[in-house]
Amino acid sequence: MRKKSALDTAICQKLGIRYPVMQAGMGLVATGQLAGEVSKAGGLGVIGAGYMTPDELRQEIQTVRQITDKPFAVDILFGKPQVDHSEANAYSKNIQAQIDVSLTEKVPILISGLGSPEAIIEDAHARGILVMSVIGNLRQARTLENAGIDVLIASGSEGGGHVGNISTVTLVPAVVDAVKVPVIAGGGLADGRGLVAALALGAQGVWMGTRFIATPEANAHKNYGEKIVATDIAGTIVTRCHSGKTARLIKNQFTAAWEGREHEIEPFPLQLQHVGGPASRSGRLEGDVERGSLPAGQGSGLIHSIKGAAQIVTDIIDEAEALLDQLAGSQ
Ligand SMILES: Cc1cc2nc3c(=O)[nH]c(=O)nc-3n(C[C@H](O)[C@H](O)[C@H](O)COP(=O)(O)O)c2cc1C
Repeated sequence: MRKKSALDTAICQKLGIRYPVMQAGMGLVATGQLAGEVSKAGGLGVIGAGYMTPDELRQEIQTVRQITDKPFAVDILFGKPQVDHSEANAYSKNIQAQIDVSLTEKVPILISGLGSPEAIIEDAHARGILVMSVIGNLRQARTLENAGIDVLIASGSEGGGHVGNISTVTLVPAVVDAVKVPVIAGGGLADGRGLVAALALGAQGVWMGTRFIATPEANAHKNYGEKIVATDIAGTIVTRCHSGKTARLIKNQFTAAWEGREHEIEPFPLQLQHVGGPASRSGRLEGDVERGSLPAGQGSGLIHSIKGAAQIVTDIIDEAEALLDQLAGSQ
């Protein structure tokens, strides 16, 4: 396939990928199968390590390596507990074990999906591992740039899962202006138009989560993918009922049951351990789309079919190329 130079951004060379399309890390859903297929198709596949034991993570890394020898990443939730509690300490211990596995396996890229990876940047670099971080505001962007981060993923409030309160269209150019490191745009982007828009905002690529749930390769019950296809742009809500931190979920009985009961929500990660985790398993894996926790972005309203992960990458690039041609012709 012919590749337009506008899509051949500097990040492609930096990460060793063909197309500037990154499949976002998603707990339970983005396992080795999905990540491997996206990387094989020329994008960047990302394993969402959330909920995995260290052994499970090692297994998923092997799965990617069996599918492709192309670069991929592991996404870890670095978020610090908001409470000193034995269960919260166990959570932190598992996160540290996930980090250790990623470092010893020398995964090509390590991504922090929540919180700060500052403490491990030096160690990762010494092993030849690039470090990227998802951010939702300028303070995090500046702090991480000073700490030596390689790439920032500016993910806006339209996105699925944990979100801040600044929209993608405002966050991305503000981050691009504030830092010198490459920036990837995420949150609410679901097609080739989103990629071209991201480039226009100064980003070098896109980070897409929700779009890749509606695929046969995602580790998601088919009811979840079908629910995303059926959800429109107004069908999601930001709530702390999943983890104690703000996250965007599909509106359903689970989110409705927590409305007016916000005072009962426990601090992160206890709410995740007691409520969001079990609800995630029943919704994402067992297909209970009413009582389960189903993270998804407003871009659900732009997703009209389930399709293969490699096809998504190809379609995004084809759409973006056609759009760039159209825009150039209209000047
Ligand atoms: C089902 C689901 C699970 C997610 N889990 C994680 C996670 O474990 N780690 C993380 O960094 N981000 C997680 N996110 C956020 C995504 O990485 C990404 O920032 C977001 O999906 C981008 O917005 P989009 O969904 O509109 O494409 C999750 C998102 C979804 C939809």
